[in-house]
Amino acid sequence: MTEDPVIVEARDLRKTYPIRRGMFRAPAALQAVGGISFSLREGQTLAVVGESGCGKSTLARMVALVEKPTEGTLTLDGIDVVKTAHGAERKRLRQAVQLVFQNPYGSLNPRKKISAVLEAPLAINTDLPAAERAERARAMLAKVGLRPEYADRYPHMFSGGQRQRIAIARALMPGPRLVVADEPVSALDVSVQAQVLNLLADLQQQLRLAYLFISHDLAVVRHIAHDVLVMYLGHAMEQGPKELLFARPLHPYTRALLAATPGLGVRRERIVLKGELPSPLNPPSGCVFSSRCPHAEERCRAERPLPRAVDGRLVACHFAESFLESGLARGPGD
Ligand SMILES: Nc1ncnc2c1ncn2[C@@H]1O[C@H](COP(=O)(O)OP(=O)(O)OP(=O)(O)O)[C@@H](O)[C@H]1O
Ligand SMILES: [Mg+2]
Repeated sequence: MTEDPVIVEARDLRKTYPIRRGMFRAPAALQAVGGISFSLREGQTLAVVGESGCGKSTLARMVALVEKPTEGTLTLDGIDVVKTAHGAERKRLRQAVQLVFQNPYGSLNPRKKISAVLEAPLAINTDLPAAERAERARAMLAKVGLRPEYADRYPHMFSGGQRQRIAIARALMPGPRLVVADEPVSALDVSVQAQVLNLLADLQQQLRLAYLFISHDLAVVRHIAHDVLVMYLGHAMEQGPKELLFARPLHPYTRALLAATPGLGVRRERIVLKGELPSPLNPPSGCVFSSRCPHAEERCRAERPLPRAVDGRLVACHFAESFLESGLARGPGD
């Protein structure tokens, strides 16, 4: 069996923002993403989870070509994103990745009919005649479960779930290989969430799309992900196949997140986080999670653990193996 082609390859991606601190002081450096690596294949979903401010959206913006990485390499559909800044290749890149945001109210221009919203990328990037563009927009509406005649309506005439379907339709018009979705269902009612997640899964199968799916909600992630990347203060704590991370989470932070999500069937006795989320301007030394980790020891505050392979996934914890042996990491089934 041949493996599906790799759509995204990210190596040690970093993003640092300069933060001004007044006229007479040098700007501080806020590391929003501190070295993230992953590959994402055609037809697969990588879900990125973690608390507010851990760098999920920053990562999404880099992968979606909205922001340049400060360091690291990123290839998309085989093209080096950082080096390919201009020309026809860049144009091809821009079509290959599309974004879907959390808020479909803000991301759709209220003055534009749906037909204009959907046809815009075709008008810019192709020389298709108007009738053909209109036909494709209507076909795309049908594909996302909306009536083709809705093309003549304005965004305010739709419900939240319908608007998110329209946002998805717009993202698919240029024929992307990768869709970066930043909290795409977080603003929707739970019943509507499930419908939109099912739609995304269907479209992925039909079109062999790769998804980078950002969410703070593990219940949503369980529904849609193939692989999961757990972030904390800009760093990867644990990443690997969804089944493994949900059944046998190894990193104390992954276990804390799972224990804090109701309805996952996870035993509840476990990890309660100490203290508050540190400021990314002043992260703890050593392991960035050490100030809140119930298992932290001297070594954790001195030495940052790098992600390493343990039990079929990558874990950035000095004690991952011992958690595996002691059975601390057992999941719901045992
Ligand atoms: N343009 C920017 N300038 C300065 N700091 C930024 C900028 N964008 C993000 N940050 C900081 O980088 C860190 C990561 O932010 P990011 O928005 O990526 O987090 P997030 O995980 O998406 O959070 P949320 O779940 O709240 O959306 C935060 O500390 C944020 O304040
Ligand atoms: Mg965000």
